Amino acid sequence: MSQRFATDVLVIGAGAAGLTAALNLADDHRVTVLSKGDFSTGSTPWAQGGIAAVTDPADSESAHVQDTLIAGAGLCDEAAVSHTVRNARAAIDQIIDWGVEFDRDGEDDGYHLTQEGGHSFRRILHVADATGAALAKTLAERALDHPRIDVLERRMAIDVISTPAAGDSRSLSTSRRRRCLGAYVYNADQGRVEVFQANAVILATGGASKVYLYTSNPDGATGDGIAMAWRAGARVANMEFNQFHPTCLFHPHAKSFLISEALRGEGAVLKLASGELFMKRFDDRGELAPRDIVARAIDHEMKRLGDDCVYLDISHRPAEFIKSHFPTIAGQCLQFGIDITKEPIPVVPAAHYSCGGVVVDDNGATDVEGLYAIGESSCTGLHGANRLASNSLLECLVYARSAAAHIRGLPPANQANTLIPHWDESQVTDSDEDVVLSHNWEELRRFMWDYVGIVRTDKRLERAARRVELLKQEIHEYYSNYRVGNDLIELRNLVQVAALIVRSAQLRQESRGLHFNLDHPELSETATATILHPSQHDPLNVPQNG
Ligand code: FAD
Ligand code: SIN
Repeated sequence: MSQRFATDVLVIGAGAAGLTAALNLADDHRVTVLSKGDFSTGSTPWAQGGIAAVTDPADSESAHVQDTLIAGAGLCDEAAVSHTVRNARAAIDQIIDWGVEFDRDGEDDGYHLTQEGGHSFRRILHVADATGAALAKTLAERALDHPRIDVLERRMAIDVISTPAAGDSRSLSTSRRRRCLGAYVYNADQGRVEVFQANAVILATGGASKVYLYTSNPDGATGDGIAMAWRAGARVANMEFNQFHPTCLFHPHAKSFLISEALRGEGAVLKLASGELFMKRFDDRGELAPRDIVARAIDHEMKRLGDDCVYLDISHRPAEFIKSHFPTIAGQCLQFGIDITKEPIPVVPAAHYSCGGVVVDDNGATDVEGLYAIGESSCTGLHGANRLASNSLLECLVYARSAAAHIRGLPPANQANTLIPHWDESQVTDSDEDVVLSHNWEELRRFMWDYVGIVRTDKRLERAARRVELLKQEIHEYYSNYRVGNDLIELRNLVQVAALIVRSAQLRQESRGLHFNLDHPELSETATATILHPSQHDPLNVPQNG
């Protein structure tokens, strides 16, 4: 029998979104926060450039809105953009109040603001080039100190538990009536599955860029929250828009190391091996064009010349300036023998950010009652077809606060008598062929990179669709027969998310923002979000347990 725990709010994820939500709830709720690894498992501690927000009186919210809409290539939800920008200052003030010390221009001056691609103004607050680490540390310390927050590490949620919709559980019209009751969670220390019962569950599990072979993301970015919400009956949207960051370090021993866009904001230029500057050939904004354009330009030049990488050069700036603004990047590159104050950095694009995710409203509420999604796992409509640099951490903070406010306003729920089935292991055994997991993991990420990457074609997408279906069946069979463990849970989610990305990419018969298809290079006159509904797009979609 699985052990049971009860809490007011279960937050799945301990990154910027999850911890901010927990801290905003804990004055009047008992909150349990889960992290599938330790505290530093997510992307938040890796964030470099900073957080976009209007703090300079010469800047304006309307300019931030406009820049976000332009980067989003016609697909942003204007209400979500306005909600985010309007609430940015309060969210920033809260984390400053909690102890985040953004860099200042001088002792008594305002904040030092950096510039990144697509921003018409210097508006990025930052802590040198390690903003995420500073934010994560502040939030973690505060959450660990809070008497009403329990933080449980190495607990991996497997599935959200919800009541079936009334009538046909696959019917579109009844999906709103599903009620979230908690989650099944794998306790990696004990090797067993536990039941967490809660009045509200917040998915704050981060993005899914690990679905690609090359990524700037940590290993845990497997889209767990998106897959769990999908299996629980919630819609997902815009999954075809995976953002590729233009500049990750290219070195045989460097795994997933980002070279922040803030370097380009401070004058770094992109060069070919010959030394030729090339960005102006692709866009008048040059190095500071939005990310989709820069990544595609680099991809184009690498393919045209058969080169393994291009180069990012900031060595014309004074060495002291570089070392004080980019100490993390300079130090890391030096470990690989690259002195960025003297020579260009070899860089390549890599999967960086999931613009799509679980469909939510301004409160972070999903289609399933009592289930919320915030941060990178959600699709609020802020990013449209392409995220503006440094808008992600901002979205995490703003929507965490909105979700917390909404949950605080709910009438007290009483689910004490709701019967949640135990986790059923009666039909499964221990796996004797884990090689299937590692093989499928590798195969999935490779064909997603080759066929569903920066540049797509109809044929490549068809190939990917065939392969993803096959892997999905195999993994489904494996999941039905063997006891769960971390790798199996993640792979099951990864293949689900891959299927959603491929399906969404096939549905989009145009090129827009991050989705570029050589067979449909034109931009449609009308911009429509790709919204997938579980009952219509996944006949196999039923949680396997409970
Ligand atoms: P994460 O921080 O990714 O946290 C996810 C959490 O969920 C983790 O605690 C993880 O353990 C937990 N989790 C996941 N699945 C499960 C499960 N099944 N069960 C239990 N727990 C689970 N954005 C910016 O705005 N500015 C930047 O400068 C910036 N720089 C970046 C640099 C890098 C290298 C990267 C990778 C991203 C960067 N981003 C930046 C993007 C930004 O960091 C992320 O979008 C953001 O941190 C996501 O926060 P989150 O809280 O949604 O998820
Ligand atoms: C970076 O520092 O280049 C990353 C910023 C972001 O992803 O928003």
